[in-house]
This record gives sequence, C-alpha cells and structure tokens, in this order.
Amino acid sequence: MKAYRASLLNFDDEGQPQFESDGLLVVGPDAQGSQVIRAAGNWQALHADYAGVAVEHLPGRILAPGFVDMHIHYPQTDVIGAPAPGLLPWLENYTFPHESRFADGAYAAATAGFFLDELARNGVTTALTFSTSHPASVDALFGAAQARGLRLITGKCLQDRHSPDGVRDDTEQSLIDTESLIRKWHGVGRLGYAITPRFAPSCTDAQLAGAGELAAKHPDVWIQSHVAENLDEVRWAHELFPDARSYLAVYEGFGLMRERAVYAHCIHFDDEDRALMRATGTAAAVSPTSNLFLGSGFFDFEGADRVGYLHGLASDVGGGTSFSPFHTMLAAYYVGREGQTKPGLSLSPGRLWWLHTAGAARALGLEGVVGNLRRGCDADFLVLNPQATPLLARKTAQARDLAELLFSMIVLGDDRLIERTVIAQAG
Ligand code: GUN
Ligand code: ZN
Repeated sequence: MKAYRASLLNFDDEGQPQFESDGLLVVGPDAQGSQVIRAAGNWQALHADYAGVAVEHLPGRILAPGFVDMHIHYPQTDVIGAPAPGLLPWLENYTFPHESRFADGAYAAATAGFFLDELARNGVTTALTFSTSHPASVDALFGAAQARGLRLITGKCLQDRHSPDGVRDDTEQSLIDTESLIRKWHGVGRLGYAITPRFAPSCTDAQLAGAGELAAKHPDVWIQSHVAENLDEVRWAHELFPDARSYLAVYEGFGLMRERAVYAHCIHFDDEDRALMRATGTAAAVSPTSNLFLGSGFFDFEGADRVGYLHGLASDVGGGTSFSPFHTMLAAYYVGREGQTKPGLSLSPGRLWWLHTAGAARALGLEGVVGNLRRGCDADFLVLNPQATPLLARKTAQARDLAELLFSMIVLGDDRLIERTVIAQAG
C-alpha cells in the first residue's frame, strides 16, 4: 500500500464535487491484486488507520480523478488542425487519406505510443477511442495500452462503402475480424472492445446488421459510432435510409442502441431522439472543440438534461483541437450558453468536471470503476499543481470557494496543470 497526503477532489453520488483540503488517499491491491483506492478522506480522520503505510506528502497539490475521454481517434493525432468547410470534405481530403497509413502495423504502433503518452501528459487515464479499419491498428493500440496497464477501449472501424481504397473494408471479413479482435482483447486486463461502425453512411445494411448481431452476442462489449453531427451528413443519412424515422433510429433498427453504446456528437436531435437515447441507455459523447472547429453545431445540454439521457465529454481529436480536458471543459462552457431557454450561466464548473470524470464513467457503464477517488475505484489519479503558471497561482490563490477554484483551473488550465498522472499498476 501507499498513501498520499494532499488536497482531494472527488464527487458524491449526486455528482456534486467534494473537496478535502487536507486529505489522505490510500492505494493498494484489492482481493484480485488490482491496484485500487483503499481509502480517500480527511487526513486527521484516516491517518491513524494507516499508520504503517508510507505517505508521500504533497503540500499545495490537489489529487483528482484521472479524466475519462469518451470519444477520440488515436489515428487522427496528426490530423488535428486540418481546415475544411465541414465534416464531409474534412473526412475525404484529410482524414481518410491519413488513416490509410495505419495498414502498416509499425506506423500504427509508433503513433499509438505517442498518443498514449499524450493522453497521460494531459491527465486522461481512460479513453474510448476509434482505431482505423485495419485490424493491425487495433492490435497496435491494445498492445501499447497493455504494456502501460491502462484502462482503454477501442475497436476496428467498420466502413464497407462510401470510403476510398485504403480504408474501405470488406463486409464479411470486417465482421470476422471484429469477432476475432473481441476474443483476443476484450476483458484482457483492463482492455475493452468496442464494435465500431464508423457512421451509418459508411456502412451497408449488411455490415450494420452484422454489427448488431455481434453486439447481441457480446452484451458486455461497447459500441461506438457517430450520429447527427453535421447537417450535410444528416441529409445524406436520410437519403440512404429513407425508411428510418431519424438518423439515430437507423442504429436502433440494427440493434446498435443499448447500454455501453456511445454515439459522438448527437447535435441535430429532436426530443424523440433524446427519448430513444434514454429508453435504450445509450450515451452521447459531447465533443465541443470538434464541433466548434468543424462548424458542426452546438450540443443541447439543456435538452439532454430535460429528457435525461447519459452524456459526457470527449475531445474527438483530430476533429477536436486539443487533448486537454481543460480545453474541452471550457469549450463545453461556451457551447452550454447556446440556445438556452433560460438565459444565465452555462454549466457549472463542478458539472463540467463531473462530465469529464465520474459522469463520463457512468455514461460508459464504468461508474465506481474509474473517474472518481472513492474506495474500490481503479487507482488512476492526477497530481494537480494549481501554481503551475504565474497566472494560475495568482488566480487560484484568490478562489473563495470550490466553484471558483475549479473554474480557475478550467479556464486557465492545460497540460502544465498536470504535475503527475498515476496509473494503477497490476498487482
Ligand atoms: N463521422 C464519421 N467519421 C468521423 C470522424 O472521423 N470524425 C468525426 N468528427 N466525425 C466522423
Ligand atoms: Zn469522432
């Protein structure tokens, strides 16, 4: 066991942030030998119970849960900042040509290593990420994540139409590959598989039906895709699937909406779509830096809360512009102002932070596993240094309450705020 004495940030069952200014975090193996949080709370109240445990004292530092990124594309690490008038030309001119390089396992492995280092530098300890359509890209990322002991979920993109040579896959082979990757990687250590139809316009009915059959056969694997991101994309989906009530309903028709299904964007929704998300336990990965960069639109946080469906924050690199959860939370704050029926403040800082940690974990079906500093959670956490820059030090020192402290870090923070990222080591 090992203990850390510093301030502690975590979330209660209602998602409210809790702050312990003089806290103790104790980590150690559970009965299965996995490294978990054994205790988290007030130092005065706890330290006598752990008298024999070595304590690292970190004055002025805040221990916080590692961030959870609900949607990112590791093969798009080098696509960040590619200008395009909108989603579809961005895919055609930059993204698909770049992703074709991931047929090469060595290239994929080199990018995977850089990507995981970048996640860690930015304080992201769990990610649901796309790979490309090449099985080698999945093996490369899982291999690199396994070597680091990370909790990571990915899957091979399914895209058997409207995709150029080099990324387009074959219907039957894509489903065979998906199933063998599930058997090879899902549940190995902290790794999880996600069935990954890229988006309905890139998949034939046969491929979507096959994906739905695999999802039914493997109920504990994840499903990830994109939906209702861009108006041209929505129009195209309606043309391709004229019988579906909405773009989202296409996925329902193929058995691709359920718990552990995560759809990026979910911008151009009506209340029937929101009700369908809620009824099926499907989650939205809200990607504000991407939506602002590609001019896709504004996620309706008010609508999501009104109907009450699962959602959390995501970077969506490389449509997204930053690996930093601070940048994503700030962009979500800007977006939260759009179209509000009740003018006023946007999302609170505590809510923003929850949506990128414990709330995102809940949306992924990983509540109590990651995204919080509570007994039994994986021991993935961050050491934050609120004095990391002169302005952060000046501003955080003046915070009068927790909301002001969190807001200072959301607005001014980036990778410099993350002094250390601690990943649970296998026992
Ligand atoms: N829709 C289909 N593929 C993609 C992708 O790679 N990025 C985004 N943002 N949307 C998509
Ligand atoms: Zn995406």
